[in-house]
Amino acid sequence: MTAPVEAGRPRTERPRRVVAAVALGANLGEPERTFKRALARLEQVPGVTVLRRSQWHVTAPVGGPRGSAGQPAQPDFLNGVVLVETTLGPRALLAALQELERHFGRDREREVHHGPRSLDLDLLYHGDDVVDEPDLTLPHPRLEERVFVLAPLAEVAPQRVLSRSQQTVAERLAALSQAAAAAPLPLPDPAAARAWCAAQRAAGKTLGFVPTMGALHEGHLELVRRAARENDFAVVSVFVNPLQFNDPRDLERYPRDFEGDARLLAGARCAMVFTGTLAGFFPELPAGQAPTSVDPGPAAEGLEGTFRPGHFAGVATIVDRLFDVVQPHRAYFGQKDLQQTLVVRDLAARRGGVEVVVCPTVREPSGLARSSRNTLLSPEAREDALLLSRALFAARERWRAGERDPAELERVLRGALTSPAVRVEYAAVRDPERWTAATPPGPLQRAVALVAAVVGGVRLIDNVVLSDEPTGDAGA
Ligand code: PAJ
Repeated sequence: MTAPVEAGRPRTERPRRVVAAVALGANLGEPERTFKRALARLEQVPGVTVLRRSQWHVTAPVGGPRGSAGQPAQPDFLNGVVLVETTLGPRALLAALQELERHFGRDREREVHHGPRSLDLDLLYHGDDVVDEPDLTLPHPRLEERVFVLAPLAEVAPQRVLSRSQQTVAERLAALSQAAAAAPLPLPDPAAARAWCAAQRAAGKTLGFVPTMGALHEGHLELVRRAARENDFAVVSVFVNPLQFNDPRDLERYPRDFEGDARLLAGARCAMVFTGTLAGFFPELPAGQAPTSVDPGPAAEGLEGTFRPGHFAGVATIVDRLFDVVQPHRAYFGQKDLQQTLVVRDLAARRGGVEVVVCPTVREPSGLARSSRNTLLSPEAREDALLLSRALFAARERWRAGERDPAELERVLRGALTSPAVRVEYAAVRDPERWTAATPPGPLQRAVALVAAVVGGVRLIDNVVLSDEPTGDAGA
């Protein structure tokens, strides 16, 4: 339906005509009347022809300020989509839409995020244009997640292919609706989770468990998908465990987004997600008393153990309690936190009954290991952070070229991490199957390179198993 991009033609020719889609939303005044009047005004904009509009859909407000008990904070929204044909470029069309918003009383500067709107106009796409600027991203960055936009868009452009999922609008809407139907059961406390898990086990179901601290990303979701594939049910915990934070500032600014997490889990076939408080996890303790630490074992010595004193005791204590609650058949952990997997394996061996499955590190295309903390990085720091994975890959190249001396491999790592933007805590080589606090003597038969560094005020860790067979990809 979109006009072809007329690449290479002289600018003096007829202006390019494209089909653009605009989403409308309003929940103040009389939205239906506003929409009608807004469309009439849009028709008057030179270079814009309204082709088609969807039905108007009523949707409950998402997020935003909460009302007082029993009172909705704001009225339902009316949503719709119009298709226009236009000779205006994306910026000019956006300016025309903003002018319309202002006409109907919207003041973008003063409004609350997710708050009430007299008229909200979003440019969803403009032909096949790709724009990535601070105030304009095309196609619209949240288009593919928003049912309240996809549903009206499916009426007017069902066959349009969406750039990220490569699904048509109609397919994407069906996929999201299915995912919503399969949303995980959210349980607010460990006691409820314990009862749910016990009932599933009693019914003969196997449980695959993924403990997390939330702010979920692809790295976590890969663990969940695998847990869902290999068990009857995947269970996820989301709990920012204060016991494992040695730096109170780090705990305070750790990203938290339980609603967003629950939405992501719906697409990863998670059956149940639970959260809780420290008191909820340890109900036997008097208020304010910390639980007795579980011994994290010898793998907690060195590296993370040195730079984050008490961290692994905090991890072992909560994972032990999480295992008590869920009593999973299998538990899934990421290689991204390699030393943690060793601590957890020891713990599981001592407890018995749970198989620990370690899954490969998921990376961004740039090589950066995915991490909840990446959301705290500025664009510059994100660039600087690439040095970590590059250093690890450089060490792996040396290993593949025959180097087996850990001291020499550590020199390669440190040599690749000399930027002033990267404050290295450690850059080390270990035998992953015979953990030692200090660098082991060479030559090594197996090796993992590990780094921890503070970049732009954010502490990042990463590792690559040097002795892994090449898989042909750039990742770990
Ligand atoms: P968190 O950092 O949320 O990580 C949860 C799990 O996801 C861990 O097993 C971690 O190794 C894995 N993970 C994180 N990023 C990954 C990536 N890029 N690729 C693959 N896996 C990745 O680790 C913790 O939480 C906590 O210490 C916890 C075990 C939940 C105890 O509180």
